[in-house]
Amino acid sequence: MLRPPHQRYHRLYVYHLEMDILPEINDPDLIGGWLEDGKPILFFHHDKQQLVDRLCQEHNGTVFYQADLDYKDWEAGHEITAFGVDDLTVAPVWEDTPADIRLDPSVIFGSGFHPTTRMCLAMLLKYLSAPELPHRTMLELGCGTGLLAIAAAMRGVEKITAVDYNSLACDLVASNAKINGVNNKIVVEQRDLLKGLPNTKVDLVVANLYRDLLRQLFQNKEFWQGNLYIISGFISGMEEELLAALPEKGFRFLERLRTDNWCLWVLIRTGQC
Ligand SMILES: C[S@@+](CC[C@H](N)C(=O)[O-])C[C@H]1O[C@@H](n2cnc3c(N)ncnc32)[C@H](O)[C@@H]1O
Repeated sequence: MLRPPHQRYHRLYVYHLEMDILPEINDPDLIGGWLEDGKPILFFHHDKQQLVDRLCQEHNGTVFYQADLDYKDWEAGHEITAFGVDDLTVAPVWEDTPADIRLDPSVIFGSGFHPTTRMCLAMLLKYLSAPELPHRTMLELGCGTGLLAIAAAMRGVEKITAVDYNSLACDLVASNAKINGVNNKIVVEQRDLLKGLPNTKVDLVVANLYRDLLRQLFQNKEFWQGNLYIISGFISGMEEELLAALPEKGFRFLERLRTDNWCLWVLIRTGQC
């Protein structure tokens, strides 16, 4: 996350360590980190070889991967800048342009530049403006930066649970929610969805996840207790496999979209599945 004196991201210094804990680090250049397959991955604004060597000594670890790269390359070649989806505008915190949402994208998925995030945002805005549908409560599974949860809060959803297993994502969502004055509507939960689901009895479930996790969730009855589902994160070649994992009854499709080969489905409850 951005902390003073840093106001934006330029270059990222990344260290993936062979040790079993996420070490506590008090350094002004720290962006953040998380456990990736049980091993810490750390991001800094500047080279931190000495600090990392010291951490390795203290925790009996080693560096098994390190890199430095431009922020733009981390964001898949995108210059993170202001954008709009329908009538909603989003700007990174370092840009001095008026926008509905100000976002620190940090090094977490969900800057808004991926086609799946954009499609989810467009569908969220569309269905939140449908007066016939209830939208008091929402669950976002795999919330990344929190952009979708924040947009939902701004468009009237009263209670949103935003879930991610990534500790930096969870801290970032809480911080982004605060920046946008909607922290009273968003509860952040750090949880591995492979190990269990939060309460899914909500008006709206948004899940922009990867294929294997979606397939697993689809086969879990507990997943299907919501009313409207916005699901993305898979490409067209994966659709057949995911269609086969859907419950046989209880839901029908409202939309099947595709952008740059990325897919999005909107499903609505029609009965018990
Ligand atoms: C494709 S990103 C979507 C982020 C955001 N919702 C968006 O649409 O831009 C998927 C998110 O799911 C999280 N995630 C992946 N596997 C997970 C799991 N097993 N449990 C919880 N979160 C998970 C990742 O950390 C990531 O933030």
